[in-house]
Amino acid sequence: MLAPMEKITDSSFRYICHKYGADLTFTEQIRFETLIKKTKSALMRIKLYDDTPTMIQIMGKDEEKLDIFLKEFTPEKGFQGFNLNLGCPSQSYVKQGIGSAMIKRPTKVKRMVDLIKNYGYDVNVKLRLGVNKTEKREKVYLKLIEKDDADFFIVHARYRSESYERKADWSVFPECVNTGKAIVANGDIQTKIDVEKMKEIGCIGVMIGRAAMNNPLIFGQLKEFKVPQLETVKKEYIELCKSQNIICSEEVLKLLK
Ligand SMILES: Cc1cc2nc3c(=O)[nH]c(=O)nc-3n(C[C@H](O)[C@H](O)[C@H](O)COP(=O)(O)O)c2cc1C
Repeated sequence: MLAPMEKITDSSFRYICHKYGADLTFTEQIRFETLIKKTKSALMRIKLYDDTPTMIQIMGKDEEKLDIFLKEFTPEKGFQGFNLNLGCPSQSYVKQGIGSAMIKRPTKVKRMVDLIKNYGYDVNVKLRLGVNKTEKREKVYLKLIEKDDADFFIVHARYRSESYERKADWSVFPECVNTGKAIVANGDIQTKIDVEKMKEIGCIGVMIGRAAMNNPLIFGQLKEFKVPQLETVKKEYIELCKSQNIICSEEVLKLLK
């Protein structure tokens, strides 16, 4: 799976990653409290232009507003379901009680998951290990996985305040799998050996973020598909953005040098 990445995983980037091997992609995070205001910029974040399998990633805490959003939501082709973001490390979001601050609120998350399911949509959850070391030690992530009925849980094996410089803690994956729930591993996964390791542990899949940023062909390479040169893919990305009338991500253009 291609990880959601703000300013990177626009619809063209998602299309390319899927074309060259990613089974599933995710939109960049957006609050459903913002989506119900229906501004053009908010709606553009969840617009799907083609049939690339895509989960729409949403975050927020106001259940009434989630209900309003779902009532008005019309799925487009490519839409596979919703992803609830319980991983966002932003300090301002955590202060408002959303993003990774919700990992320790399994009952509330359960209500939100059930609400989405009641509308007939698939739903999965992306979480970190807690807001800080203490929450990780208390295993708040396990309590959430045990209690909630999402289709699968994507575990980014870091707590909120942990920087990318520290290696993701893969030792948590076996206990997550032992809950009996479907677990997708995330954090520092890059090679075939990494993927095999996650399979051995019993994860149903892996999610790849930064390793795909400057190499969207990584999914095909891991699956040993024949893939084109990166230069060809960059041209394809620019053409796609033009055809969808969206502005190419400067970050992606820089990365695909
Ligand atoms: C530039 C950037 C933007 C990100 N934006 C999001 C986001 O919108 N939603 C989300 O759930 N995670 C976001 N993440 C986290 C990634 O989805 C992923 O969990 C994290 O990078 C760890 O995976 P990796 O080691 O494969 O990169 C972002 C990460 C990066 C580097």
